[in-house]
Amino acid sequence: MNEEFSGRVAVITGAASGIGNAVAHYFAERGARVVGVDLNEAVADAMAAMPGTGHHGIAKDLTAPGAAAEAIDEAVRVAGTVDILVNSAGVALLDKALELSDRMWDATINVNLTASFKMAQAAGRVMTAKGYGRIINLASQASVIGLDQHVAYCASKAGILGMTRVLSLEWAPSGVTVNAVSPTVVETPLGKAAWAGQKGEDMKKLIPAGRFAQPEEVAALIAYLAGENAGMITGENILIDGGYASI
Ligand SMILES: NC(=O)c1ccc[n+]([C@@H]2O[C@H](COP(=O)([O-])OP(=O)(O)OC[C@H]3O[C@@H](n4cnc5c(N)ncnc54)[C@H](O)[C@@H]3O)[C@@H](O)[C@H]2O)c1
Repeated sequence: MNEEFSGRVAVITGAASGIGNAVAHYFAERGARVVGVDLNEAVADAMAAMPGTGHHGIAKDLTAPGAAAEAIDEAVRVAGTVDILVNSAGVALLDKALELSDRMWDATINVNLTASFKMAQAAGRVMTAKGYGRIINLASQASVIGLDQHVAYCASKAGILGMTRVLSLEWAPSGVTVNAVSPTVVETPLGKAAWAGQKGEDMKKLIPAGRFAQPEEVAALIAYLAGENAGMITGENILIDGGYASI
C-alpha cells in the first residue's frame, strides 16, 4: 500500500457513489483516513469497505440547514482534524431553460454550489486555523461551456469557479489551496443518466479523445492537487475532458 496520504484526514462529499466513491477509495488506498458524507445511507457501508481502517460515514442531506458545519464537526470529533476536502456531492437536473421548474433550479444550486461553499467554509475554518489544507471542488466542463438543457447545472458549476478563486486568494496565506476540477462526461450513475443513448454517442464523437472519462482518472487528478507537491497550485480550474473544451 502506498502511504502518500498517511496521517491525513480527507472529507469527501458524495462518497457513496461515482467520483466521490472513487476518490475515497484512491485516498484510502494511499493511507488517508476518509470521512465520507452523503445523502445516501449506503455511505456507511461504502466507508467500511474501503482499504485501511478508521474510515467513517456520515449520512446527511448537505442542503439541510447547518448540515455542512455538523459534518465537519463530526469529522473533527471522529478523526481529529480535516486536511483535505473534496466537494463531489452533486446533481444534474436537466430541462430546456424555458421549461425548467423552480424546484430543479433550486435543488441544483443548493447542492452543487451552496452546499459546496458551506462545506468549504466549515472546513476552511479548521484548515486556516492550523495553517494547512487542500480543497478540491468538482466543477465540470459545464463550468466553461454551455450545454443544451444544462442551464442550472452550468450556472452552478460556473459559480464553483468564482467561489474557488475567492477562497484561494483569501486562504493562500494560511497554507490552504483551493482548486476546481472540470471533467467531461464521467462514466458514473450521474454521467450515464445525463448522457444515455444516442446523445452520449454523439457527444463522444465531439471529444477529441473519443471517449468519456473514468472516475479513477478524475480521482488521480484530485489526489495530485491534494498532495504535498501541489502547494503552489491554487485558484485553478483543471479540465479533464479529452480536449473537448479546446475545440
Ligand atoms: N459524471 C459526470 O459526467 C460528471 C462530469 C463532470 C462533473 N461531475 C460532477 O462530479 C460530482 C460527482 O458526480 P458523480 O457523477 O459521481 O455523481 P453520482 O450521482 O454518482 O454521485 C453523487 C453523489 O452525491 C450525493 N448527493 C446528492 N445530493 C446530495 C445532498 N443533498 N447531500 C449529500 N449528498 C448528496 C448522491 O447521493 C451521490 O452519492 C458532481 O458534482 C458532478 O456534477 C460529474
